[in-house]
Amino acid sequence: MTKIDVTVHKAEKLNGEITIPSDKSISHRSSMFAALTGGVVEVQNYSQGADCTSTLNIIKELGCDVEIIGEKHVKIDSKNAFKKDVYNLDCGNSGTSMRLFSGIVASRDIESTLFGDQSLSKRPMKRVILPLELMGAKIKHNDFKAPLVIKGQELFPIDYKSPIASAQVKSCILLAGLNTYGETKVTEPFVSRDHTERMLKYLGADIVTEGNSIKIKKSKLEPKNITVCGDISSAAFFLVAGAITPNSDIILKNVGLNPTRTGIIDVMRKMDADIEILDQKILCNEEVGDIRVKTSDLKATTIEGAIIPRLIDELPVIAVFASQAEGQTVVKDAQDLRNKESDRIKCLVNELQKIGVNIQETQDGFIIEGKNKLKGGCDVDCYHDHRLAMSLYVAGLICEKPVKINEFQWVDISFPEFLGLMESLK
Ligand code: S3P
Repeated sequence: MTKIDVTVHKAEKLNGEITIPSDKSISHRSSMFAALTGGVVEVQNYSQGADCTSTLNIIKELGCDVEIIGEKHVKIDSKNAFKKDVYNLDCGNSGTSMRLFSGIVASRDIESTLFGDQSLSKRPMKRVILPLELMGAKIKHNDFKAPLVIKGQELFPIDYKSPIASAQVKSCILLAGLNTYGETKVTEPFVSRDHTERMLKYLGADIVTEGNSIKIKKSKLEPKNITVCGDISSAAFFLVAGAITPNSDIILKNVGLNPTRTGIIDVMRKMDADIEILDQKILCNEEVGDIRVKTSDLKATTIEGAIIPRLIDELPVIAVFASQAEGQTVVKDAQDLRNKESDRIKCLVNELQKIGVNIQETQDGFIIEGKNKLKGGCDVDCYHDHRLAMSLYVAGLICEKPVKINEFQWVDISFPEFLGLMESLK
């Protein structure tokens, strides 16, 4: 990636209508699951982010024929998938690719090495290695970190109680279970995003959800075309920007509104943000709608417990939002933020303090004293983390003096369209 530093200036207003680009989690799953059908699947509105390109490259390596038909439109033919014995799978920066493919390859008679960039090589993989080993998988690893060398084979079904609410862990086990005789069951402490369950159901798998538990039986997937909705995690930067920038009124079109992802809307509303959902519909088993947000007077809140997995990726930008709310906002139970593309508690607190946010780190979150004027007038770092880069940009919109964000190119991991869309609203 070419290094690009970006300077953000105070915005007078944000006005207009934009279409939010494709959901990263759903895009990953669309091409992964297409690779399991043995047929031809067309995916419309596939994410242009580097993470989802890593997944496309992996399915090519696994033997799929991937044709780019048009902008964001891919055709995946998986009739020749999984025909070789040995694979090298480059997951780049993408935790979702590494953890979900682990479940896919562990249950097939192939040997795969999954590796990634520096950041991914430091992230914890024990959370997927342990349940896969319980299913009988043979995995070599570097102290529970990548590279993972997985010698795939017929696995046994398990009834797994996950210690963490993680869609990546849940999906890894379900995908191993999809190719395993008997019933595999996963239970999580709180419900995490359920795109895997919804898409597997859409493609005809034998999968049932009961509360926090999901059961799956060995199934053949039907090759059905998929259209991906917009990403609420990308919309989040605009929701916050619209609510905290003066004189703003924006409409975000085509946003995924799956209830396991809408924690940010619930929290913003609880903090008195002026948010309206317009025109909701269903697209490929996922709720989608348009969202209108206006400049709002905000009040603080506490964010903890079951809502955390429903807004885990939005917490950095929620910190920026809370800096403009009257009172003390407390975020608890979010220790897994330390295991993301960066230590999102420590790095976020460091950088927001530089621009004048009154924020303190805690072991499992942070505490913000709100309604402070942000001075800016400094350089900040994004620690190779796309969501920190965009959260700092949103903070920069309300700083008195310009903020220079170093290595802003990391936004390309999930949202290469970010700057263009932001500029169009100014
Ligand atoms: C994701 C799940 C979440 C999220 C990540 C994408 C997914 O991770 O943070 O950006 O697509 O399944 P965890 O499952 O580790 O919480």
